[in-house]
Amino acid sequence: MTEKWTPRSWRSKPAKQIPNYPDSQKTLAVEEQLHQYPPLVFAGEVRELKQKLADVAEGKAFLLQGGDCAESFAEHNADTIRDFVRVFLQMAVVLTFGATKPVIKVGRIAGQFAKPRSNDMEVQNGIKLLSYRGDIVNGIEFDEASRVPDPERMIMVYRQSAATLNLLRAFAQNRCASLEKVHKWIFRFIEKSPQRERYEALMYRISETIEFMRAIGITVKNHSILGEASFFTSHEALLLGYEEAMTRIDFSTGSWYAMSGHMLWIGDRTRQLDHAHVEFCRGIKNPIGLKCGPSLKSDELLKLIDILNPENEPGKITLIARFGFNKIEKYFPALVRAVKCEGCKVIWSCDPMHGNTTTENAYKTRPFNRILCEMESFFNIHQAEGTHPGGVHIEMTGKNVTECTGGAYAISAEDLSDRYHTHCDPRLNADQALEFAFFVAALLKKDRDSQTLNE
Ligand code: TRP
Ligand code: MN
Repeated sequence: MTEKWTPRSWRSKPAKQIPNYPDSQKTLAVEEQLHQYPPLVFAGEVRELKQKLADVAEGKAFLLQGGDCAESFAEHNADTIRDFVRVFLQMAVVLTFGATKPVIKVGRIAGQFAKPRSNDMEVQNGIKLLSYRGDIVNGIEFDEASRVPDPERMIMVYRQSAATLNLLRAFAQNRCASLEKVHKWIFRFIEKSPQRERYEALMYRISETIEFMRAIGITVKNHSILGEASFFTSHEALLLGYEEAMTRIDFSTGSWYAMSGHMLWIGDRTRQLDHAHVEFCRGIKNPIGLKCGPSLKSDELLKLIDILNPENEPGKITLIARFGFNKIEKYFPALVRAVKCEGCKVIWSCDPMHGNTTTENAYKTRPFNRILCEMESFFNIHQAEGTHPGGVHIEMTGKNVTECTGGAYAISAEDLSDRYHTHCDPRLNADQALEFAFFVAALLKKDRDSQTLNE
């Protein structure tokens, strides 16, 4: 691919998963309007994230990426955002302790609105309508009018993302996210957990560490790093018209940045080498995630990495493995070996959600133990290959939903109907998300201990 890149060069390539808007003039007008709006994120922040991800690629930090499968207009309120941030930061503290490395916090938030679908059409009771493609495209209600793609929805996404970011930035500062506060929340959480004993040991060690710091005079008052949490946003770069409209030149460097979020990723269904999504992503400076599933061949992966990161910059590429607990052993090691052998500087992150989706009682769900099982295999494979388990990518919410089965509260297939609220895939609820973090912290500690042994 040596052709010149522009923010619109993707338009001359084949594109999957992009809706057909009935009124293309109106769509262009909306995109032009968006193009005039202020950026949602800033190039300096994107560069800061890339720098931190470079540390992850070298094994000096760990990436925590998570949030809703799909954000929605209906669930846009302060409580949802606050509850998410709370749990996410709790996870970050637990993981930081497990890894004894900085944890880079990247939400699937403030822009995660577009969904790829396996079928263009959905049939219910003999009626066939266009599939729901996320609130940025059409409405989830099963009626003809709601399912018509409406470009005005892009404007609504822009506004919702701006409001969400505003709150996230406030939470990250003003001591809302201070280490001591987050630590107290975790205690409140584990007090009532049936798994309490399993968490207590680690929690007491964190408490002692905080007390020790306080004893020697390191407090929020004199160290702002304890009072603020750095936090970034990410979403799937799926609806390219929206992404193009939000792509701007950074005048201090003369480079193009997608300003809709700090990090963007390419989905497993839109990563064809010569297609539009790869074309768009190759030209922007943002860190790029690439979902890797069982159908991805090693040579194809190496070509993708070469197109997306020709200069082999660390921090640019995050490969997000999503195989399923029963496929990871079979498909993943070959990819890890190929990438290592070629000397590509990448982050390997594990998405233990998407390969473990099943259906129970007509609900899409994911058994919690399979999620943990895939995570453990991911760590074991890296251990065997001498590479770094760099991060996790999960779908979660701060709410107490019943979408994934299992966990300490043993959600059963029968419980799924109680509080099944997702607009797309099943998410870990607050309890499951924190339990997941404790599990991964233990894997990180094991990894760390084995490295000390090998030194
Ligand atoms: N500022 C550090 C960081 O963002 C430490 C920190 C403060 C922190 N509050 C936090 C870490 C809450 C995790 C969660 O990493
Ligand atoms: Mn999903």
